[in-house]
Amino acid sequence: MESATPRTWFVTGTSSGLGRALIEALLGDGHRVAATVRGRSRLDDLKDVYGDRLWVGDLDVTDTVALRRVVDDAFGELGRIDHVVSNAAYGLYGAAEEFTDDDIGRLLAVNLIAPIQLLRAAVPHLRRQGGGHYVQISSLAGQTGIAGASIYHASKWGVEGFVESLHEELAPFGVGLTVVEPGSIDSDFFARLDVASAIEAYRDGPVGALRDYLSDRAAVKRDAIGDPRRMARAIIEAAEAAEPPRRLVLGSDAYEWIEKALHSRLSALRSQEAAARSTNR
Ligand SMILES: NC(=O)c1ccc[n+]([C@@H]2O[C@H](COP(=O)([O-])OP(=O)(O)OC[C@H]3O[C@@H](n4cnc5c(N)ncnc54)[C@H](OP(=O)(O)O)[C@@H]3O)[C@@H](O)[C@H]2O)c1
Repeated sequence: MESATPRTWFVTGTSSGLGRALIEALLGDGHRVAATVRGRSRLDDLKDVYGDRLWVGDLDVTDTVALRRVVDDAFGELGRIDHVVSNAAYGLYGAAEEFTDDDIGRLLAVNLIAPIQLLRAAVPHLRRQGGGHYVQISSLAGQTGIAGASIYHASKWGVEGFVESLHEELAPFGVGLTVVEPGSIDSDFFARLDVASAIEAYRDGPVGALRDYLSDRAAVKRDAIGDPRRMARAIIEAAEAAEPPRRLVLGSDAYEWIEKALHSRLSALRSQEAAARSTNR
């Protein structure tokens, strides 16, 4: 299906899963895509089919200098980029005290610092071209908290807080933002999940139970209910809308978890109204 208005998109983390589904859908629709990937040959099959409509940047998103160069090159060579999608990320599992300092630093470098730096690199270009749209792939983990995934949740809450603060800051320049909150996705994510070395004390609690479940990677993949192609389609539709949403929830699991979390936060907040007001000077 060719799109009526071809646009240019920039997407990180396009070797697999949602990122790959997104660029396949965009290219199939007739759009131009700047895709970043660790190892440019991983997109050779798409390059063979789509030629110059696919621009490929080799990028480990934690290399901030390279990230700025790739963003500058993409805007420089393609002239205008309408949508920038920060997608690259990975998962880390374990109890908070099981993680090494390196586990934490690595995860936050990919899932939190890199998206912040990507946006900072893209905004001057979006501003100069008179606007554009930024899409941050977060997760249901950006609104909830699950035992064993604290650092992953911290990265997604962090990136959501960053984006949430930018709506007013960037509106004067015509730059809009959407945070996407998918539930489980049928992708390589759980096969690649980084798992901390176990401490015996957590074996019989919720961290241990989920660790056991996650150890059967094939079962976890089977249980993932989100179709990356449908999610990609929903993201494109939302980003191309006249008024793109600030948040886009994808998957019935994401909807249910987030609805429950928001209800519980709102009712906890309301139960504290009198106490909150009582501390005014
Ligand atoms: N899978 C889920 O259940 C789920 C649920 C909610 C949200 N999400 C979010 O959805 C997004 C896509 O995940 P996915 O499910 O499609 O997983 P995926 O198939 O594992 O894809 C993740 C992508 O990120 C890339 N990446 C990881 N570290 C990178 C780095 N340092 N530099 C550059 N690229 C890097 C990977 O590239 P390499 O091949 O080079 O490693 C891969 O292309 C992520 O933001 C994830 O947090 C996933």
